[in-house]
Amino acid sequence: MCGIVGYIGYREAFPIVIKGLQRLEYRGYDSAGIALFDGNQINLAKTKGKVEDLKNKAKEISQKGTIGIGHTRWATHGVPNDVNSHPHYSNSGELVIIHNGIIENYEAIKQELTKRGYTFQSDTDTEVLINLIEEVQKTENVKLGKAVQIALNQVVGAYAIAVFDKKKPDEIVVAKLGSPLAIGIGEGEFFIASDASPFIEFTNNAVYLEDEEMAIIRLGKEIKLRKIKDDSVAYPRILELQMNLEEIEKGGYDHFMLKEIYEQPRAIKDTYRGRLLANQGIIRMAGIDLNMEKFLNANRIIIVACGTSWHAGLVAEYIFEDLARIPVEVEYASEFRYRNPVITDKDVLIAISQSGETADTLAAIKLAKEKGAFVFGVCNVVGSSIARETDAGAYTHAGPEIGVASTKAFTTQITVLTLMALKLAKAKGVFSESRYHEYLTELETIPSKVEKALESNTLIEIIADVYKDSTNCLYLGRGYNFPVALEGALKLKEISYIHAEGYPAAEMKHGPIALIDEHMPVFVIATKKGHYEKVVSNIQEIKSRKGKIIAIVTEGDEQVRDLADHVIEVPETLESLTPLLTTIPLQLLSYHIAVMRNCNVDQPRNLAKSVTVE
Ligand code: AGP
Repeated sequence: MCGIVGYIGYREAFPIVIKGLQRLEYRGYDSAGIALFDGNQINLAKTKGKVEDLKNKAKEISQKGTIGIGHTRWATHGVPNDVNSHPHYSNSGELVIIHNGIIENYEAIKQELTKRGYTFQSDTDTEVLINLIEEVQKTENVKLGKAVQIALNQVVGAYAIAVFDKKKPDEIVVAKLGSPLAIGIGEGEFFIASDASPFIEFTNNAVYLEDEEMAIIRLGKEIKLRKIKDDSVAYPRILELQMNLEEIEKGGYDHFMLKEIYEQPRAIKDTYRGRLLANQGIIRMAGIDLNMEKFLNANRIIIVACGTSWHAGLVAEYIFEDLARIPVEVEYASEFRYRNPVITDKDVLIAISQSGETADTLAAIKLAKEKGAFVFGVCNVVGSSIARETDAGAYTHAGPEIGVASTKAFTTQITVLTLMALKLAKAKGVFSESRYHEYLTELETIPSKVEKALESNTLIEIIADVYKDSTNCLYLGRGYNFPVALEGALKLKEISYIHAEGYPAAEMKHGPIALIDEHMPVFVIATKKGHYEKVVSNIQEIKSRKGKIIAIVTEGDEQVRDLADHVIEVPETLESLTPLLTTIPLQLLSYHIAVMRNCNVDQPRNLAKSVTVE
């Protein structure tokens, strides 16, 4: 996610845009930039770092002008640095753009534009887009609005853009597909932003563009809405906003954690966007393609991570061994780095980290590299220390995860690892075409199935109220859902401060069943796929000892419903994809219990979002 801000009106644009960027920094904060038009020329400043760094950088330019656009970046293409920051000029220097989103087919467009003599300063998809708009403007001899409309019909991906042309200094053109874009409508002035937080102090009247809509915002005129596909007229729906600033930054949710739980359908889709081409039977991952032999000839894969990322690694162990038949070991990074492990140059090490800054994981990577292993990173923060230290990698495109309790990072990590395992299984020839196609097709349904799982939120809130005063909880799962049981327990522990343990369901009889009585809530993942009958037996063992059973079941399940005190349904899917769904109710459950216990959900006591110390 990135943050975009724009202003066109009678006030000085600089302070409005800068303050607006500060309000959007939660959306992305690895670099920032601003472009202002002073009546004669465009003055642009941009820098790696935060908006505060941009304010310093902007001292080098004229800050005059009543038109301006600004951007705070969450890098997806191109590491965070000055030149990759937005805004981006077109080659002529007459157009300038800011963009939140991903242009999937930017390489092909870049090649064509290069043939036509265009040059590029940055590694970004956004710079390609602004030069495509310029090329259309020239070859079709059209004004900016029409050029944007034509150009956007040639791109594949997601965008919220604002484009300015110094030849037409009384307007800004905006367009939206997949990324949010709001237009604030003031008296003789307009605001543009990713959400209303930059302009809520100036006006409550806003238009939220729908997907595939664009708008030509011209001073002194009504905004003109168009359908990108065919340039037909669209009609603005002006909303009068009632939300306050804090609510807007959280997207109307009470906490960042809840917002991020609900972002998972979009985050999973963004993570496989451009990589999963199910109808072509292709998984495109350059980091794997360029290192395929290393993976196929590896003695084993070692996965190192911490916390939730370690749980994603455990899921990956099941996936890689089950699907790709590659031996996998999962290690706590903090243990691995000190236990003098045997590592050879025939090992592949996968490091998983949302922040890309976890000290123990970084140290484990360095140890493995010293011993000659090939290291692959799965990170969420582009350009982070771990992303730079690894030999290759694949980013999750979850967007910034602000809540300390990791949620969308977990499901997007599993998405990346599943894509990797499927790609390797196909390359190894251990997968039939039909089974491969079945997985690719099913993976594409996951975002909508996550949406469906989220619909149980009200039921989960009711269940949370029943168990919010528990002092201990057990989480049980088998197979692919054993790591989900561990993850569910971690979520509850870290935000509600209730002691919780995750266990393989079959392990109960080796001791923990002694804990079961009427005061012990037991959360059991009992989906149809994966040792179902054995989990039902475990449930019966708990029931016979008066344990309280809350079961996560496949929708339509009647057998467990007759045994458990509560059931929460998730849609059916392939066994190896169930963790992407069964984790959702456990995230919501821990969230609601923590809220009911008046805990600080987004910043739990004693914790930090990124553990950069040992
Ligand atoms: C999970 O909810 C915690 N925030 C924590 O366990 C986290 O997963 C762990 O510190 C690893 O962080 P990383 O993914 O940024 O490396």
